[in-house]
Amino acid sequence: MVDAKIRELELDDVPHMVRIYEKITGEKIDEDTMSAKIEHGQSLTALGAEVDGVLAGFIIGESEQGVFGEEETIGWINMVGLDPDHRNLGIGKKLGKELINRFHGLGIKIIRTIVEDEDYNLLSYFKSLGLTKVPWTVLELKD
Ligand SMILES: CC(C)(COP(=O)(O)OP(=O)(O)OC[C@H]1O[C@@H](n2cnc3c(N)ncnc32)[C@H](O)[C@@H]1OP(=O)(O)O)[C@@H](O)C(=O)NCCC(=O)NCCS
Repeated sequence: MVDAKIRELELDDVPHMVRIYEKITGEKIDEDTMSAKIEHGQSLTALGAEVDGVLAGFIIGESEQGVFGEEETIGWINMVGLDPDHRNLGIGKKLGKELINRFHGLGIKIIRTIVEDEDYNLLSYFKSLGLTKVPWTVLELKD
């Protein structure tokens, strides 16, 4: 078992997050865009996993109240990424569990995320964290 240290993300982590994101998706993301994702607003929880002093992965969650007219505050998991060199070692699960614990600590009982139907990697990951499919459909209008 790898000893991954889970901690809050900081702006110094952004270049490493960009590197991990590009490694996973093959797409470039600029540092300002990534920084905006972790700027610590009150509703944001941004966690990183460090292995031997190097950022191996990250997870970003946000709480939001009153979505679709709901009374409850929802904990959204917005982004998760593990460096492919550090996968299948339980680090992603450790990050996910910690984020869920933080949401629970805030009194948040409903946690959601959106995943593509055919992204079996992420579907299996979220299922292992206890999330289940809900009978909703995501709709969008695109120019
Ligand atoms: C999903 C992801 C976070 C998992 O991280 P990880 O550290 O490799 O996962 P873990 O080793 O902690 O495994 C957690 C669970 O997910 C499951 N899982 C992980 N990778 C899987 C895969 N490729 N296929 C099926 N299941 C998988 C494991 O079986 C495990 O379940 P278990 O605890 O019931 O055995 C990682 O693969 C990833 O970053 N994927 C890309 C995500 C992405 O596209 N992000 C958007 C850009 S940042």
